[in-house]
Amino acid sequence: MKALILSGGKGTRLRPLTYTTAKQLVPVANKPILGYVIDHIKDAGIKDLGVIISPDTGDEVKKYIDGGRRWGIRVTFIPQGEPLGLAHAVITAREFLKDDDFVMYLGDNLLSHGVKDALRKFRRESPQALIFLKEVDSPKQFGVAKLDRKGHIVQLIEKPKRPPSNLALVGVYIFSREIHDAIARIKPSFRGELEITDAIQELIHMGYEVKSEILHGWWLDTGKKDSILQANTVVLDEYVKRDIQGSVDRKSQITGRVTIEKGAVVRNSIIRGPAVIGKQTEITDSFIGPFTSIGDGVTIRNSVIEHSVVLNNAFLSGIERLEDSLIGKSTKVMKNASQHKALRLMVGDDSTIEV
Ligand code: DAU
Repeated sequence: MKALILSGGKGTRLRPLTYTTAKQLVPVANKPILGYVIDHIKDAGIKDLGVIISPDTGDEVKKYIDGGRRWGIRVTFIPQGEPLGLAHAVITAREFLKDDDFVMYLGDNLLSHGVKDALRKFRRESPQALIFLKEVDSPKQFGVAKLDRKGHIVQLIEKPKRPPSNLALVGVYIFSREIHDAIARIKPSFRGELEITDAIQELIHMGYEVKSEILHGWWLDTGKKDSILQANTVVLDEYVKRDIQGSVDRKSQITGRVTIEKGAVVRNSIIRGPAVIGKQTEITDSFIGPFTSIGDGVTIRNSVIEHSVVLNNAFLSGIERLEDSLIGKSTKVMKNASQHKALRLMVGDDSTIEV
């Protein structure tokens, strides 16, 4: 069994963050989404991983994965010249995949339970494909499945104008070698991509067995349906443990599940979990409320921050109350000290500011 993570494509929806970062590397609770995905692959006992990368962001993805050492797995990087579709990515990875069974995981998707149990089911029942479905509010933006009364798949359609159900295909699939034959028989879709959804539909046409499972845990898709703030809330709620490695002075109070990483310094401040504070970050005379992730090398002075994500090396000072906010890397947010009341902004492209 191998794994293939798709970490190419373009991250238009997550702009402006994705002007400088691959969308799979945007941090959720201070860890890139791709990091959780690789954790799941490792937990499932898979040791051979292929990662699809794009010319734009491939180097950054390679740097983060760093040969897979952290996870103790072998990683092969597979460049895809253009994002011509999920099935095109599988064709691109054919030499790596050979005729082995494989898990395909979209690098911007995250499941609550990983893929361990699903792999067990795949091995036990040996279908040609096992897919996951989840009810969504807006099925038009996904691959959608129609099931019969017994729960067998009748039809799979990519981004249907009139969805036959509200069951979306989740971005995690398990395949046997027959998927390559099915991909060889499909044509590009209306959006000009070779769709994996069409290839799975083709497997059914060819008389092969495609099993589906309704997902009961949560599913995050930061490339499409969930904002980074929502993903941050879910992941902090689920994963964060109390672990204080940085230094906290006696005038500070840390309540609940709070992770404070090495080298962080907290002075005269209150931090209420779930929250994470990154390495070498300094928090002084401030309140950090629940569901907040503060990255590495951040400085926060005299501020109140809640339900927010602050990325590496940002600087915040004198902010009375910041809520539901996402602050990009090396960004400065400061109270205007002069008498003259004015907003002074230097904001990157595609940003949103509420004052
Ligand atoms: O997220 C679930 C959905 O993912 C499914 O419901 C759809 O059936 C499936 O087609 C897919 O739809 P998207 O339109 O969301 O796919 P997207 O273009 O966002 O690509 C998903 C990931 O794969 C993303 O991390 C980028 C990567 N990718 C994408 C393409 C098109 C590649 O590595 N290469 C590609 O050619």
